[in-house]
Amino acid sequence: MSFISRRGFLGATGIAAVTGTVALRPSDQGAPYEPYFAQLNQALKTAGIGTPTLVIDRERLHANAQKVKAHVQGNGQGKLHLRLVNKSLPSLSLLDEIAQATGTNRQMVFNLPYLQLLTQQRPQSQILLGKPLPVAAVARFYAQPPTSGFDASQQLQWLVDTPQRVQQYRELARAQRRPMRVNIEIDVGLHRGGVPDLDVLKTMVQLIQEEPLLRWSGLMGYEAHTEKIPEVGGLRERSRAHAKQVYQRFADFMQASPLKQDRQALTLNTAGSPSFRLHDGTGAANEVAVGSAMVKPSDFDSPLLSDFVSAAFIATPVIKSGRFVAPDGVEELGTAAAWWDANQRHSVFIYGGHWMAKPFAPAGLSPSGLIGPSSNQQILLGSGKQALQPDDFVFLRPTQSEAVLQQFGDIAVYENGRVTTMWPVFPAQA
Ligand SMILES: Cc1ncc(COP(=O)(O)O)c(C=O)c1O
Repeated sequence: MSFISRRGFLGATGIAAVTGTVALRPSDQGAPYEPYFAQLNQALKTAGIGTPTLVIDRERLHANAQKVKAHVQGNGQGKLHLRLVNKSLPSLSLLDEIAQATGTNRQMVFNLPYLQLLTQQRPQSQILLGKPLPVAAVARFYAQPPTSGFDASQQLQWLVDTPQRVQQYRELARAQRRPMRVNIEIDVGLHRGGVPDLDVLKTMVQLIQEEPLLRWSGLMGYEAHTEKIPEVGGLRERSRAHAKQVYQRFADFMQASPLKQDRQALTLNTAGSPSFRLHDGTGAANEVAVGSAMVKPSDFDSPLLSDFVSAAFIATPVIKSGRFVAPDGVEELGTAAAWWDANQRHSVFIYGGHWMAKPFAPAGLSPSGLIGPSSNQQILLGSGKQALQPDDFVFLRPTQSEAVLQQFGDIAVYENGRVTTMWPVFPAQA
């Protein structure tokens, strides 16, 4: 005898299916602004801002800077030097603020226009190139050198990655009778560039040794890959250890070569925001480069930076807010999507969009798969609980700071509930 009739069985299955389907249904993610963003929204309005604007929270910026400072200072005996990654903080005022907060005048620069700008505007800077520039760009720098008093022969380290590049720079140095400091890029596992092995390094050492105008100033080994490696079976830990060992091997080789120098006088640079906390000065490197962590874009949401706070937001005005109506011709799709997902019932059209950024506040907004992105007036969908009105601001978190921070004109600096000043940004330039 069956305990459940066929009909009863089908009914029960149907109920289970409906219950399961309902359980799969996305829950409403929407909510009004949290108090922090309600206040920021008001502050931007009070400041008369009505266009997409990059906002930096000064207090949060300083909190991050203090964490970096505390790490490099270690136990107070100055374990590591700090170098600011210029391209990730693309504003002189922003760089000044952090340089002062952390007590460094070292910067890593990645392109000719910013090199020209920095050497002219901040002649006290100590500069290391973060990528090897084509010799034509180097020649261009010397053709119009800064008139600020910046002394390139002392304060600037060019980056060299191959024997060919050393030869090119040597020819330039000879032609202009110009002393040039060269820092050697080493490949510690990323394979983006740099010296791959000791044989190549030996050739470069010989070339530098033979040319008195070229002065070896240190090493640069960037290990951006290690923190991207999945933490499976010790793989990440292995790549971290490998990068440090390779660095050590290159450094030992140099210190056994005719170019050897007091370690204190050398720039032995490594790391970036995701990895600087893995270094404490006990390894071969005596300096770390940090940029993005100061403002913590979302790509830097990693365990090693979990106590850092996001300090930069894109704020953009709402142009139109209302029930989501899919475009003519696909109304049914819109209706079905709204039925299924409460977070697709309300539309918010913003001023601009399609940035390297994710909607952040108020909660529960996301781009529409149906409509797609727009750089002019992007649609974001939500449940409506955000309660946004035209001229309110939507806040997005940049995924990275490089190239994004300078897309909006002057940066609005927010502190104590007010926009207190505007910081000009570097021109967008490769
Ligand atoms: C050579 C080098 N060092 C360090 C960094 C780290 O920069 P950030 O701290 O902004 O991640 C970069 C970033 O591209 C780099 O190219």
